[in-house]
Amino acid sequence: MLIARKIAAVRSFWAHLRGKSLGFVPTMGDLHDGHLSLICRSKRENDFTAVSIFVNPTQFNQKNDFLNYHKDERRDLALLRQEKVDLVFLPSAKEMYKESFQTEVNVNDLSRGLCGPYRPGHFKGVSTVVAKLFSIVRPTRAYFGMKDFQQLKVIERMVQDLNLLVRIVACPTVREKDGLAMSSRNRRLSTQERVHAVKFSRALKVAARAPKPGLALFLKEADLYKKDVDYFEIVDPQTLLPTRKKPYVAAAAVWIGKTRIIDNVWVP
Ligand code: PAF
Repeated sequence: MLIARKIAAVRSFWAHLRGKSLGFVPTMGDLHDGHLSLICRSKRENDFTAVSIFVNPTQFNQKNDFLNYHKDERRDLALLRQEKVDLVFLPSAKEMYKESFQTEVNVNDLSRGLCGPYRPGHFKGVSTVVAKLFSIVRPTRAYFGMKDFQQLKVIERMVQDLNLLVRIVACPTVREKDGLAMSSRNRRLSTQERVHAVKFSRALKVAARAPKPGLALFLKEADLYKKDVDYFEIVDPQTLLPTRKKPYVAAAAVWIGKTRIIDNVWVP
């Protein structure tokens, strides 16, 4: 497994590919089974697999959230070695953003709704860093989880709009046995908060599939106050605009204590 901290080292790895396919899983580290399922799929579908670990400062709209982001490079690398990943790209913030850096990618409409108003600048940070990662790693396919549905749609749109030569592969959300969607943020939940988080996931499922889905039902099922909820919305899977027509996606973001969690349910 090659560990590349510099962009130049990734470029020299690329020289060895000789036309073979490269799958790519971008991450911010703190790896869990959700990430590992993306890696497994990439390994099945490509000759080589690359993973990036970069806690991207520009996508955090709260400084403390960035500073407190859990990092464990040694554990992550051990897991990636076990999975027989070929390349790990582990750049520093300086390597990714030189002092003179001034270019941003913004996917306008799709970044506007759902999490958009609650995390100003977040999707611009994500699109920009993912565009950079694609240009550095130059993957054949890139793997993203459907848990971050809005992120997935933003990236798909960016790839189409900028004619990037990478195929985006959307992968199903991986869940704990109790139904909670896997996320690095889950480790911040206390035992009591975790019970609430599971209730949230179940409530989202129930409210999404009800004949008349709506916030009131969601709040009742989740046993949450309105103030804990950033949004509960039924949206068109392509435009992310509110709809009542199937297929739709019911998406929600809530605060469980100090942790913000998101999830979504696809209703065909
Ligand atoms: O989903 C994530 O972990 C991040 O948003 C990503 C795609 C790695 C970009 O920093």
